[in-house]
Amino acid sequence: MAGGLCLCEVGLMDYAVKSGSPEKQRSGCMVIGIFEKRRLGPGAEAVDRATNGRVATLVRRGDLDGRAGQTLLLQELPGIRADRVLLVGLGRERDLNERGYRKAVQTAFQALANCGARDTIWYLAQARVKGRDQDWLIRDTVQTVEQALYRFEACKSRRDAPQPALRKLTFGVPGRGDVAGAREATRIGKAVGEGINLARELGNLPGNICTPSYLASQARELQDRFPGIDVDVLDEDAMAELGMGSLLSVSRGSEQAARFIVMHYRGAGDDQAPQVLVGKGITFDTGGISIKPGAAMDEMKFDMCGAASVFGTVQAAAALELPVNLVGIVPAAENMPDGRASKPGDIVTSMSGQTIEILNTDAEGRLILCDALTYAERYKPAAVVDMATLTGACIIALGHHMHGLMGNNAGVVNALLSAGRTAGDRAWELPLGEEYDEQLKSNFADMQNIGGRSAGTITAGCFLARFAGKYRWAHLDIAGTAWNSGENKGATGRPVALLTQYLLDRAGEGPRP
Ligand code: BES
Ligand code: MN
Ligand code: ZN
Repeated sequence: MAGGLCLCEVGLMDYAVKSGSPEKQRSGCMVIGIFEKRRLGPGAEAVDRATNGRVATLVRRGDLDGRAGQTLLLQELPGIRADRVLLVGLGRERDLNERGYRKAVQTAFQALANCGARDTIWYLAQARVKGRDQDWLIRDTVQTVEQALYRFEACKSRRDAPQPALRKLTFGVPGRGDVAGAREATRIGKAVGEGINLARELGNLPGNICTPSYLASQARELQDRFPGIDVDVLDEDAMAELGMGSLLSVSRGSEQAARFIVMHYRGAGDDQAPQVLVGKGITFDTGGISIKPGAAMDEMKFDMCGAASVFGTVQAAAALELPVNLVGIVPAAENMPDGRASKPGDIVTSMSGQTIEILNTDAEGRLILCDALTYAERYKPAAVVDMATLTGACIIALGHHMHGLMGNNAGVVNALLSAGRTAGDRAWELPLGEEYDEQLKSNFADMQNIGGRSAGTITAGCFLARFAGKYRWAHLDIAGTAWNSGENKGATGRPVALLTQYLLDRAGEGPRP
């Protein structure tokens, strides 16, 4: 159990691209779309023609009218070489957007997984979706399928749900000219999907397994798997040497020693300033002496999801051989109450030299991130982006749909907003400003680590901004987006898709600054 990361099920699906007429394709199952009002959608017209109007007849009879969520499986249609044909309702043609498409992919994939087919030819990505081209739909399909294949099995003695027999998914595209772009789309979708699943696995592992030193071992595993990745791990002595008094104050109350993990991916020349990603790696957050209430405290094992998204993104960048330089920094620690733990009122000195009065030991994320942000200066970064499950207040502000985003540079902020829209992994900007920053004034130190009840997400951002003044920087608060609670409790792997898109957009940008 959990000896190493067991992502054994990932990579089971092969993706391919084929042009040519649907009725001639041999496959276990063909997937075609029907729009509401019984309109034949992607792939359906060709199948209808080849079957003397069978599809139109079935639809007219009312077996399926095209509403979203519907599926209908047909066996051995004469005139068709595929063993089965799966009709998928896509809703109203004019209203089909990326969310509707994603939902249709999930529904279709469930039906496919249950039908016993070993391979499939997929036509839904030929649907017209506003603002998205076929390559985008193919990439998003692969990402969705990869995520659907993920199971958390590291700690189960037997399997809950068997994997589907399906092993190969081929995208049917209209012409030969579409093939190259579509292949590239499958390559990106697979790398992003696997990056997301790595982040989910690390997030889902419990706090007694996924400790700071476990994260360090996972970084070394990435180094072993990808020649482009190099890893350095600092122990507490090395951190003390650097003066990381703020970070070390958080791990002092834990039996688990902190680790400072640095992953380098070099995909461009030495003259290219690196993009730096920093992820909060609190492997469990009890709150420390300012201890949290017991309800749902187990979910604080997810407090390292920022770190997990750095792992996932570094893996995706290396898998795609992106032409960028990337540094992934993970300060990892456990926040526990103990005789040596920080007490409210304690004052610590950060690596930057700034002193911090710790008024609440539960505001620990910023205490480890600030030293990581100072450490990042040495790379003369093109930009630094940090990700953190930082504030419950962010859930109040934005719910579970969008990441909170703040930064000191409009270019970086806009690049992240845009990447989030492209990737369907959206962020929303919140302001920073002196008015808010003043809430951090302390009578006894350079600042305090909390800013009062109001605007908690923003004052946390202001705290970080005090350590990020030497470069272009942005901060993603992923407290509401990094995991799901309830019946589907589990890490989401967000914002790996946003970050990978951000790096794709940066590829070939040239030396900077
Ligand atoms: N990891 C938590 C934030 C969090 C809480 C994320 C619940 C998701 C769900 C963070 O370390 C924390 O405890 N923040 C405090 C800050 C406060 C003491 C200023 C919070 O949000 O209550
Ligand atoms: Mn906390
Ligand atoms: Zn925390």
